[in-house]
Amino acid sequence: MLQVRVKPGIEDRIKGFFPWIYRPEIASLSRKPRKGELVVVRDFAGKFLGYGYINPEVSIAIRILSFDKNEKVTPDLIKRRIREAYNYRKKLYINSNAYRLVHSEGDLLPGLIVDVYGDYAVVEFTTYGMAQFREAVIEALVEVLKPKGIYEKANLTAAKIEGTGVEEKVVYGEVPEEIVIWEHDLRFYINVPEGQKTGFFLDQRNSRKFVRTLVEPGDRCLDVFCHTGGFALNMKKIGAKEVIAVDISDLALEMGKRNEDLNGLSGIEWVEANAFDFLRKLDRSGEEFDVIVIDPPSFAKNRHSVPNALRGYKELCVRGLRLVKPGGYLAIFSCSFHITQQHLLDVLTEASYDVRRQVRVIATTFQDKDHPWILQMPNTLYLKGVWVEVI
Ligand SMILES: C[S@@+](CC[C@H](N)C(=O)[O-])C[C@H]1O[C@@H](n2cnc3c(N)ncnc32)[C@H](O)[C@@H]1O
Repeated sequence: MLQVRVKPGIEDRIKGFFPWIYRPEIASLSRKPRKGELVVVRDFAGKFLGYGYINPEVSIAIRILSFDKNEKVTPDLIKRRIREAYNYRKKLYINSNAYRLVHSEGDLLPGLIVDVYGDYAVVEFTTYGMAQFREAVIEALVEVLKPKGIYEKANLTAAKIEGTGVEEKVVYGEVPEEIVIWEHDLRFYINVPEGQKTGFFLDQRNSRKFVRTLVEPGDRCLDVFCHTGGFALNMKKIGAKEVIAVDISDLALEMGKRNEDLNGLSGIEWVEANAFDFLRKLDRSGEEFDVIVIDPPSFAKNRHSVPNALRGYKELCVRGLRLVKPGGYLAIFSCSFHITQQHLLDVLTEASYDVRRQVRVIATTFQDKDHPWILQMPNTLYLKGVWVEVI
């Protein structure tokens, strides 16, 4: 197997279970590497550190799958990890038939995402190395889930960086264009081929439930960046009198409307707009709401974009705080690893000074528990939310 030695000093981080090795950290290779091939990683003196796979063309050149000398990376290891991920999900008693079964590094399977929607699974390979295990992954999924169908979805960012390809296809059984899933007491349409991510933002399940504890019958609520109505439907279900749901995607809004019908609800106002413009407009007309949720897409894809992203979050917080009635609630989320919970708290603090409103933090939330994060791998914790009462 290809032998890799890392530069002196890098070994401490790897011994601390951080599974990524960046290209400049490689000291030597036993020969020219092939993209996606398996490697043994050693320290500068030649002592074993781990087994992984390499892609010499990208910045994160090596991802380690095993830190144990006796645990070689084989298709059987991948299958065992998938079984372990499945057994872990069984213990979570998720109140939905839709969940994340494999969360990449969070399940010790870097480069693999698997989401389950009822009888169907959606697979995404986000690294070239993991895509080499496609057959083992599908076999393991068939074994544990006994699904009616599996769909492989392309991850366009990975396709660009890692060269994983853009082809999307059914890789097992049959997958209908639309699936209906349930979450708590609501049902949602999922369109796997056309939808964002694998079709649904599963990571916000716990927050979609939490919002119900804040909404009172008769309230006026706002769901900003609503996608297919995740928060809006929960607000309406609890008895909100008025709910406005805003998104830039007509496809998401169309499905949101259909989700409203599917659940026998009515009266949500679906607005196709740029959320920043729409919030500005509401603010200028002096509108007020009891509960506002702002769940934007990632503004910081890398650490260089953090300052710009923070300006965006600050603007959203300022508008949100101004639009909440006294005693009302605002939630703001970031789904970028590069934006920390402290960043969110800081922009909220600055925004509260600007709008001169006193703010009480009532909760902080993270991605739901089927998206586990590894303490030594901060990148696995990406979704943070701060919930405040505006006094
Ligand atoms: C993280 S998702 C929201 C998930 C949603 N809260 C849920 O529970 O399903 C972000 C959404 O923002 C939308 N979006 C992206 N840029 C936008 C913009 N400038 N204005 C409004 N919506 C936008 C996307 O279409 C996507 O539906």
